[in-house]
Parts: sequence; C-alpha cells; structure tokens
Amino acid sequence: MTPSDASIETAKFCALAPIIPVLVVEDASIARPLAEALVAGGLPVLEVTLRTNAALEVIREMAQVEGGVVGAGTLLTPQDVRDATQAGARFGVSPGATNRLLDACEAHDLPVLPGAATASEAMALLERGYSVQKFFPAEANGGVTALKAIGAPIPQVRFCPTGGVSLDNAPDYLALSNTLCAGGSWVAPKDLVAQRDWAAIEALAQEAAALPRP
Ligand code: 3PG
Repeated sequence: MTPSDASIETAKFCALAPIIPVLVVEDASIARPLAEALVAGGLPVLEVTLRTNAALEVIREMAQVEGGVVGAGTLLTPQDVRDATQAGARFGVSPGATNRLLDACEAHDLPVLPGAATASEAMALLERGYSVQKFFPAEANGGVTALKAIGAPIPQVRFCPTGGVSLDNAPDYLALSNTLCAGGSWVAPKDLVAQRDWAAIEALAQEAAALPRP
C-alpha cells in the first residue's frame, strides 16, 4: 500500500467519529463487551494499544464486533506490524515513525497513522506521502496552540492529536482546520473497565461521539 493510499484510508477512519478510543486492555475476555459498548455509544473506530500481553487477542476479539473498525496502536517494530495485521487490525497507529516501521506497514498493506511531534517530523512524513498523521503527545507538545501553528505553514497535513486529550479540551482541537479527529483514553477508564460497567462506558462514548465534528 502506498503512503498516499494509506492516508486516504486513515482519513476515512478518522471521519467516522470525532474520537478514537485509545485502549489498554489486560484481559481479552472483556474485549467484546468493551468494544460493543463503545460502538453502541457511537465510537466505531478503536485503537488497541500493543502494550499488554493480551493485546493481540483483544484485537482478534474486537475485530469480530459488528460495526467496529479495530486498529493496533503503539506499533514500534516490523514484528508489531506483522502481528497486528495477522490479528485482524485494519489500521495501525504509531507514536513516532521510523523508515523500518513505515516500510513494514506499506509491505503489509496496513494503513498507518504515523506519529509526528514537530514541523520537521510532519514534513518528513509528508515527503514520504503521509498527509494524515497523529500529533503526539499532543498536550505535552504545546497542545492546540502548537497544532494550529504547525497548520499555518503545513496546512496539507491533517492530524489526529492524541495524548492528554480530554472531553474538556477536545472541542478546541476539533475546531482546528488541520484536525480530522482526536484520540483519547478517557472514554474507557480503568476503573469502569475493571467494574465491567459497560453502560457507563457507553454513556462516555455517547458524550464523546456528540462532540462537534471538524
Ligand atoms: C497514549 O499513547 O496512551 C495515548 O496517546 C492516549 O493518551 P491519553 O491517555 O492521554 O488519552
């Protein structure tokens, strides 16, 4: 898959909902009800981070939930890309970008949302053909002000800011012309997941899904 085709695909996923839940799931047995709650609440695009031993099994389970679009987050290595693709991930997300990682995503036809934190990183990715990127870590990098400033000279790159995004600051990100959607973990908080309070998680998803679209 070419970088420009990958960008077309990731832009489509970003258009499905204002927020992509960023999920850290330790127990694959709760993958389906968690995904079902988020999808029912209006957030169909799910990023399962490869930060737990259960993550690949979680992707396999969530990929079977009707209406969901499940991707793998925290892609760091070509092996991560192979594992995620085999588990059924339909897209990938990485905190940054290396040539080896991008080569692997392109070879495995995995549309990737590569991470950039600076103008130079955004330019390097754009040079390779990636016009849709993740701005990470968004709040730590200057947040809305920084993302808006990057958009002035480089308006052709559009972003999914992630890292420190919340229900409170999401509207400011989503109002930027270079933001397609945002990622955040607040819609699936650890305590509610531990309590298996799917109704509460569905309500959080509904609240996030109702945020004004870019
Ligand atoms: C992450 O990498 O964990 C994501 O960027 C989510 O960040 P958040 O927990 O601040 O939403």
